[in-house]
Order: sequence, then C-alpha cells, then structure tokens
Amino acid sequence: MSDGQKARVQAQFGPSAQDYVASAGHAGGDDLERLVAWGRTRGGQRVLDVATGGGHTALAFAGFAPAVVATDLTLPMLEAARGFIWGRGADTVRFLASDVEALPFRGASFGVVTCRIAAHHFPAILTALKEIARVLKPGGCLLLQDILGHDDRELAAFILDVEKRRDPSHVRALPQREWAAFLKAAGMTVIDESILSKVRPWEEWTGRMRMKVEAKADLERFVLDAPARCREAFGFRVEQGRIKSFTDRMILLRADRD
Ligand SMILES: C[S@@+](CC[C@H](N)C(=O)[O-])C[C@H]1O[C@@H](n2cnc3c(N)ncnc32)[C@H](O)[C@@H]1O
Repeated sequence: MSDGQKARVQAQFGPSAQDYVASAGHAGGDDLERLVAWGRTRGGQRVLDVATGGGHTALAFAGFAPAVVATDLTLPMLEAARGFIWGRGADTVRFLASDVEALPFRGASFGVVTCRIAAHHFPAILTALKEIARVLKPGGCLLLQDILGHDDRELAAFILDVEKRRDPSHVRALPQREWAAFLKAAGMTVIDESILSKVRPWEEWTGRMRMKVEAKADLERFVLDAPARCREAFGFRVEQGRIKSFTDRMILLRADRD
C-alpha cells in the first residue's frame, strides 16, 4: 500500500478510535448477526479479524471461537479495541498492527477470516484478498461485509464524492459482480451472499470523522444541489433544508478458499 494511503487511513482513524468503539452502528446490527451466524457454522476454528477498527467483530467472534487475532493498520485503533475487548473479559483475543496486504502470519493459519466495514479503504483489493486467501486454510472461509458499490455511473460517482469528502481515506465500494470476480481471482468461491440496508444518521456519520464545520457545510450543500435521483437513490431524508440521514446498502459475502 502506498505511504500516502497509509497516512490517510491513520490520520482519519487514529483520532476517532474511541468514537468507533462507541459507535452503535458498529457495535451490532443485522450484518454482524449474519456474520456471526455464518461463523458459528465453522465451529472451533481460529479466527483472524482484519481491519478490526473498534473491535466489535472480533469481540462477537470471541464469544464462540477458540482463538481470535485482531489486526489493524492504525495503532491507536488497535489500542482502543484492545482496551474495549479485554475490558469485556475476552482476554484471549490477541492484537497485531498490520496492513491487510502484508499479514504477519504463516500460510494456512486460520480457519476463518472476518473483514467488516473496511474493504472500501483497501487500494489494491486483489492484493488484499490474495493475502487473506494465503493465511486461510484450504476450505477455510472469508466472512466479509462492506458498503455495496453501484453499477449506475452517476450514482456511483455521486456517493463516491460524498464518501471521499467525509473521509479522504475512502477508496471505492465495489459492486456485487466485481466482488465475485475479485474473490475468484484470489482463489476463493462465493458460497453465500446477502444485501442489507443501513440507515446513516447524518450528524453521527459526519461527526465520527471529525469533519471541519466548513467541510461539513460544503458536503451538505453538495448533496442538496445534486440531481434528485441521486438523493432519492440513497434515501436522503431532508427536513427544513437540513440532511437528517441517508441509507446505503451493505454486501455480505461468505467465500471459501479453494
Ligand atoms: C470502520 S473501521 C472497521 C470496523 C470494524 N471492522 C467493525 O466491525 O466494527 C475501518 C478500519 O480499517 C482499518 N484499515 C484501513 N485500511 C487498512 C489496511 N490496509 N489494513 C488494515 N487495516 C486497515 C482502519 O485503520 C480502521 O480501523
């Protein structure tokens, strides 16, 4: 990964680490429940949670997996996750700072890899997926959740602009067909998938990234001035000229290593 992207990720997430631990949208939801339900079918496997953020996925898997290792590129995030998870009594979870593109593990070390709400920050998705496939045992499984990208060019460009204005470390959300192709190229086969909607309360969503007042006002103006079909596609709720929330879709994928 380029030093520029690494610095962008660390600059975005380092100061917000505790906000991610406290975020209700990360702490739970239908998406996390689905990943856990898929994970439970794999029973007693060692789990790697990449880009653990505030640690909610690692904590959920520590409830039934014999061993969980959590990794993240951003050290303050990893420290916040460790404080949170160990504070909940899950002191068998281990933490390691690392880029998903260069995981510090031997090949075939894990039965399950989880990656939730993070892949849109990975600049070289195929490199990341190949690295995940390398550390998975044959027949092991990747449980992934991410923002779903759009096939419609105008909608994709609009939401990419919104995301990047809020978080300059956002790279791109992949549409469904690209996920299947990248996973196949990395040596994994999709065996289950589903799509869920998630409502984003505007104040909380922009606040978590500590946007400056002016940048936030510019973003709001950008959305309000955009073509109506863009706002409608993402369910932007506007009251008295102010944005209250919008809705995006999440893709959940279960892919087995070939
Ligand atoms: C939204 S948080 C993840 C949320 C978390 N997985 C959960 O379930 O609550 C995104 C995380 O991705 C991490 N990240 C971004 N790029 C990364 C990379 N190349 N390698 C590892 N972690 C990365 C960031 O540091 C940040 O902590």
